[in-house]
Amino acid sequence: MTEEEQPPLSHKRKRPRRRRLKARDTSQSQPPHDANNINKNNKKSTTQSSKSTLNPSSSSSFLDKMKAKLSGGHFRMINEKLYTCTGDEALNYFQEDPSLFNMYHTGYQQQMQYWPEQPVNIIIKWLKDQSPSLVVTDFGCGEALLAQGVPNKVHSIDLVSKHPSVIACDMAKTPLDSSSADVAVFCLSLMGINYPSYLQEAHRVLKKSGWLLIAEVKSRFDPSNGGADPNKFSRAICSLGFTSESKDFSNKMFILFYFKKKGKHNPTSETVEWPELKPCLYKRR
Ligand SMILES: C[S@@+](CC[C@H](N)C(=O)[O-])C[C@H]1O[C@@H](n2cnc3c(N)ncnc32)[C@H](O)[C@@H]1O
Repeated sequence: MTEEEQPPLSHKRKRPRRRRLKARDTSQSQPPHDANNINKNNKKSTTQSSKSTLNPSSSSSFLDKMKAKLSGGHFRMINEKLYTCTGDEALNYFQEDPSLFNMYHTGYQQQMQYWPEQPVNIIIKWLKDQSPSLVVTDFGCGEALLAQGVPNKVHSIDLVSKHPSVIACDMAKTPLDSSSADVAVFCLSLMGINYPSYLQEAHRVLKKSGWLLIAEVKSRFDPSNGGADPNKFSRAICSLGFTSESKDFSNKMFILFYFKKKGKHNPTSETVEWPELKPCLYKRR
């Protein structure tokens, strides 16, 4: 219903090409295919909003206009880029043009509204059942929804910082101290092709017996459709120095893995046999 494998857009595009993704002035980019009508309908009110900045309804029209301007195609291209490059490359990509991060997250939220359950909410619920004194690291926090949803101290990490509390870095190399976190969370964020190095970093940052929670898109773990074997994935993580506590397949769109850090055993991720995780490509809406 919400996401599916599909060839890169450049192979499917029939409509005239829009501005190149790297264009810095995104305000001039074409509105997305499925938002064209919204944009036209809003034309009058958005013109008015530029004249009156104090009217709340005008500012919401402005936001609508900005959202409408977001190209679904651009979102899917950024998304595909993140799933097919290393964390280093992704960091450079967003550093060159941080506006792509906003574009990605607007498109991501549009996709997520079709999911019956948000994985980040399940993780928030889980954390609320634990002690609020647990220190959490949210690897690939996006808009830091996790930090906003729990009373715990949360180190939020992402490639771009949209909030002063978010640490902008490649999550393979965080500035966090070793053994400083009780819980490490990856919520739909194992995107880079070097994803094992993110898990190795989580192992470093976690205290002994600390929790590692991973929520990932179900289709990435569907062996009958080119996805990884979830047991092989789980075994690889265990070889890194974790024990598998449980897996939750009950949600329609994503799987949740729960691990605990064993002890000091910490081989490099290169010595572990990691399954490839296929990209999660979203369909046009
Ligand atoms: C699909 S979003 C999920 C955001 C958030 N966890 C949530 O559930 O709302 C994945 C996030 O991981 C981030 N990410 C991907 N690779 C990263 C890396 N190497 N270092 C830091 N963040 C990364 C992306 O920038 C993006 O914000």
